Amino acid sequence: MYYSDDLIEEVRAKNDIVDVISGYVKLQKKGSSYFGLCPFHNEKSPSFSVSRQKQMYYCFGCGAGGNVFTFIMEYENYTFLEALRYLAERAGVELPEQDESEESRKKAGVRSTLLEINKLAAQFYYAQLKDPRGEHALSYLKQRELSDETIRAFGLGYSGKSGKELYRYLKSKGYSDDILFKAGLIAFNEKSGPYDKFWNRVMFPIMDANSKVIGFGGRVMGDGQPKYLNSPETMIFDKSRNLYGLNRARTFRKPYFLLCEGYMDVISLHQAGFGNAVASLGTALTSGHASLIRRYVEEVYLTYDSDEAGTKAALRAAPILKEAGITARVIRMEPYKDPDEFIKNMGAEAFEERIGKARNGFMFGLEVLEKQYDMKTPEGKTEFMREAATRLTEFDEEIERNNYIEAVAGAYHVGYEDLRKLVGRMAVQKGLAKPVVRAKTASGREKENGIVKSQKILLTWLIEEETIFRQIEKYIKPSDFTGELYRTVAQLLYEQYEAGEVNPAKLMNHFTDEEEHREVAGLFHTKIKELSTAAEQEKALKETVMRVKSHSIEEATHNLEPADIQGLQRLMEDKRALQDLEKLHISVN
Ligand code: UTP
Ligand code: MN
Repeated sequence: MYYSDDLIEEVRAKNDIVDVISGYVKLQKKGSSYFGLCPFHNEKSPSFSVSRQKQMYYCFGCGAGGNVFTFIMEYENYTFLEALRYLAERAGVELPEQDESEESRKKAGVRSTLLEINKLAAQFYYAQLKDPRGEHALSYLKQRELSDETIRAFGLGYSGKSGKELYRYLKSKGYSDDILFKAGLIAFNEKSGPYDKFWNRVMFPIMDANSKVIGFGGRVMGDGQPKYLNSPETMIFDKSRNLYGLNRARTFRKPYFLLCEGYMDVISLHQAGFGNAVASLGTALTSGHASLIRRYVEEVYLTYDSDEAGTKAALRAAPILKEAGITARVIRMEPYKDPDEFIKNMGAEAFEERIGKARNGFMFGLEVLEKQYDMKTPEGKTEFMREAATRLTEFDEEIERNNYIEAVAGAYHVGYEDLRKLVGRMAVQKGLAKPVVRAKTASGREKENGIVKSQKILLTWLIEEETIFRQIEKYIKPSDFTGELYRTVAQLLYEQYEAGEVNPAKLMNHFTDEEEHREVAGLFHTKIKELSTAAEQEKALKETVMRVKSHSIEEATHNLEPADIQGLQRLMEDKRALQDLEKLHISVN
């Protein structure tokens, strides 16, 4: 299925990264690099840099980076093959057809056809809304106080009453029934044959981060059931990896998102000037959503409905966001139901105030918890404080835990020291309740993470500094990297050093799987923590090298077959190398 490395490299080399990115981002030359506003996160001053010499880009703000393929993959939401095809065409490089399997070509073809169909459908629905037959739909939207500008910006539309209009339109464009079913817009039953899934509804096109229509939500006008009908998941529509409004929110210059529940919430917030509002697509928030959000912002304000379901959803969402490295705060909209109602009644300024008063996710959780206790009696309050203390034990980092203990002590008027002791006791109790297993898996995982990190850091060093590579190559071989991906990167890197030319942009071509490609891109930008003195750097480097080598020996020992004499010899050599390493002075300059 794959194209040859040479051909991929030819496509890369013929697409100068500065030229390509200039088509998307306004770049300005500064010194030897070009700078612009990062298209992958919100920022006011340019921290997105592109190097013509290295043919790589990197954002100092959000850490996005890679070669020209990475950029097109990220920006256009393409797979590696799609990016390759796109750039080949751009540079006039012909890709041999036979190199690609029938199946993968079909898949790519189906994806782009589904996008085409969704786009046509969105245009069709939009036209229906503006048609006299869509008058009542338009007046429904008007009655909900949406302006023409908002209707246009979100591409809202109307699906007519006959139940076959879209089907006929798309047939007239030459699509087969089969592909129309795949697009999720046309259904089939014995009696009427193929028919429109959406009829007599106000249509909300759902777009991906790059404003490509991937599905629809359709709302009844009035009280019918279901209130919203949504496109089913298709090859292009993955509900857990897309957010409504993201295509607009991602370029809105605020360092946080407002995460709400519904399409209408997003739309009325945008109309009121809060263009950073997004919503999940009628599903609960997933970790997929969280990591998608993390590509753009580090902070999220949850603006879920004020009812019990909304509160529960906020309590569920906060830890998912935290897990992804996002700070979550909760905005309350009482006495109104949701942001849409709030804005209509109180206006944008009042909403801005609520943003200012948002509560942090943990404290919000306690406030909800509080309602289960009779806080007026000493027993009730004591029970509550015990539960709060138990929750506080979940903060692994001491400083963070203490900060929260302080906040809770302040909010509930108890002594800081008393609460801290209680937290300590609860931790012990919990430890006794669930002994060993917990501790063991946690530290096992930590160790695993630790060694992976060391290998990653070492690779970064080897990539950045030839002098370091030269001192270490005798002792560390690619095979010492136990993670398969890192081992492959090391192999390629060693080959490039041997050939006398280190070229990260070229090296990256090797990784055509999206996840791997991203991970490798990250390697070239992992900034080694700035250690102040050369001595400190040398010490850290040496420790890293030793750790990687001894882990590799440990693994080899573990896997050694008793009869494997050669393996045993290699192991002995490795142990000798480790001893030599201990004595080695590595210089970083
Ligand atoms: P809401 O009922 O809060 O809808 O559901 P809303 O967006 O505020 O719409 P209005 O203001 O009542 O018109 C929140 C979200 O849950 C999903 C939709 O994504 C909706 O936007 N949902 C809701 C469905 O998918 N199906 C339904 O029947 C209801
Ligand atoms: Mn709602």
